Amino acid sequence: MKNQSIILAGASSGIGLASAQRLASEGASVFVTGRSLDKLAATGFPHAVVDSSDRAALDTFFAARGAFDHLVVSLGSHKGLGPFASLDLSDLREGFNEKYWPALHTVQAALPYVRRSITVLTAISATGRMPGTSGIGAVNGALELMVPIWARELAPVRVNAVSPGVIDTPWWDFVPATERAAAFGQYAAQIPLKRVGRAEDVAEVVAFLIRAEYVTGRAIVVDGGLG
Ligand SMILES: NC(=O)c1ccc[n+]([C@@H]2O[C@H](COP(=O)([O-])OP(=O)(O)OC[C@H]3O[C@@H](n4cnc5c(N)ncnc54)[C@H](OP(=O)(O)O)[C@@H]3O)[C@@H](O)[C@H]2O)c1
Repeated sequence: MKNQSIILAGASSGIGLASAQRLASEGASVFVTGRSLDKLAATGFPHAVVDSSDRAALDTFFAARGAFDHLVVSLGSHKGLGPFASLDLSDLREGFNEKYWPALHTVQAALPYVRRSITVLTAISATGRMPGTSGIGAVNGALELMVPIWARELAPVRVNAVSPGVIDTPWWDFVPATERAAAFGQYAAQIPLKRVGRAEDVAEVVAFLIRAEYVTGRAIVVDGGLG
């Protein structure tokens, strides 16, 4: 990782932040973005407020940074969850607005400057076929479907996805604490490795994909065996 410059979009908390910490500990030079200046400042890493749904802001940001080695896109949204019969389609539309489109804008805006690899966080909902996830799975599946095609179009820049299962991060803050603890307990019981994941579990795979110079166009699932 020495001398590698890495921009992590959506890295003021959770998986993005754990990835920044992991990569920095291996000697990389990391730069993190998000929408909240307070959260970014608390990371201790060089940072900038960049809303990934704002294309003009993204273009200005990447032009100012110039060439860099690796991009990690870890933008969160929990919208679009629930059984299809009762799924609020405007909530699902929000899911696309909060994750899919900002991820596409971030990758596209970075393309003139990124030299070596792009890693996008998707989710096990894309492929897990779990009831209640068809909407959020569509958001993540649409993103994941593009990754192998980008890998062919953009080579030698490598493009991969990391697909997490249930990971204990602030992503789950929309669920009240007691319900969240109960849900995590239920998930842990059905996950072969008998626990929900930690952000560091996913950061391990992000770091692997940044290092692995002969891997492109792949999605690696990190879910303890849930999917
Ligand atoms: N945790 C899980 O169980 C789980 C499972 C499957 C997949 N994932 C995926 O893993 C990725 C990371 O999630 P996480 O668990 O680390 O969630 P998280 O802790 O909520 O982190 C999401 C990050 O994205 C930033 N962000 C959101 N929208 C943004 C925007 N428009 N522009 C810039 N930054 C934005 C957030 O900061 P601000 O809000 O301050 O901008 C935050 O830093 C997401 O793609 C998520 O869907 C998570």
